[in-house]
Amino acid sequence: MSSSAENPPSQALLSVSDLKASYDESIILRGVDLEVPPNSVVALLGRNGVGKTSLLRSIMGLMPRTEGKIYFEGKSIGGLRGDQRARLGLGYVPQGRDIFPNLSVLENLEVSLSIAGKAGKERLEQVYTLFPVIHEMLARKGGVLSGGQQQQLAIGRALLTNPKLLILDEPTEGIQPSIIDQIEDAIHLLKKEGNLSIILVEQYLDFAKAASDKFYILDRGSVVLTGESEELTPDVIGKHLTV
Ligand SMILES: Nc1ncnc2c1ncn2[C@@H]1O[C@H](COP(=O)(O)OP(=O)(O)OP(=O)(O)O)[C@@H](O)[C@H]1O
Ligand SMILES: [Mg+2]
Repeated sequence: MSSSAENPPSQALLSVSDLKASYDESIILRGVDLEVPPNSVVALLGRNGVGKTSLLRSIMGLMPRTEGKIYFEGKSIGGLRGDQRARLGLGYVPQGRDIFPNLSVLENLEVSLSIAGKAGKERLEQVYTLFPVIHEMLARKGGVLSGGQQQQLAIGRALLTNPKLLILDEPTEGIQPSIIDQIEDAIHLLKKEGNLSIILVEQYLDFAKAASDKFYILDRGSVVLTGESEELTPDVIGKHLTV
């Protein structure tokens, strides 16, 4: 075992080393190393099907078979269940969001509040400020909201758990431009506020570059490039990200 796997860098909020994951016979992640510093936004980029969602699910403890080390705030979490990781401060908004369609918007929020307690209540006002539509639609069923509104609700719910790390899987996918702007603004605002880190999987590269400090590019289950986001030049994008 390598020394980095034994000794997590103490300054990282999240540190993943040599992470492998598979579904049945197919190997999906082939030894991924990734670090999320405190108060930072990390963009996770890569073409379709390279393993971005699988990496997020592995971090959240939702992949059936994984190997490797995952440290959160210096503590090994690889053996914990998904709900235990969530309680430690990992907030996850899955790709395609997953609100409860038959519960009202308010009830959707209350599910998260029941997990986070007091700290979550303090976040409620912030969520209403970031996404006013949530406040306007509290009595509506989640399922009648537009895709973009559901995404805002999903992000709002995750924020109410008062996460230290917010994990967003393609938050702007399939959403109308006006709501994309609001989601982007929300991410910029959370970043400015500075007391949480974000992992952002995002296809809109201009936005990903502007919002993030650091990037990782995945290809077929491996990290092929990582660096400061300002190094995301058209050359790099052309080589690793365009189809
Ligand atoms: N439940 C599953 N069972 C078997 N294979 C799966 C399953 N989910 C995903 N895969 C495969 O794992 C690989 C990685 O998928 P993953 O969803 O992690 O990629 P991604 O980078 O998030 O893609 P996208 O950009 O399309 O969201 C793909 O080849 C996919 O077909
Ligand atoms: Mg995905």
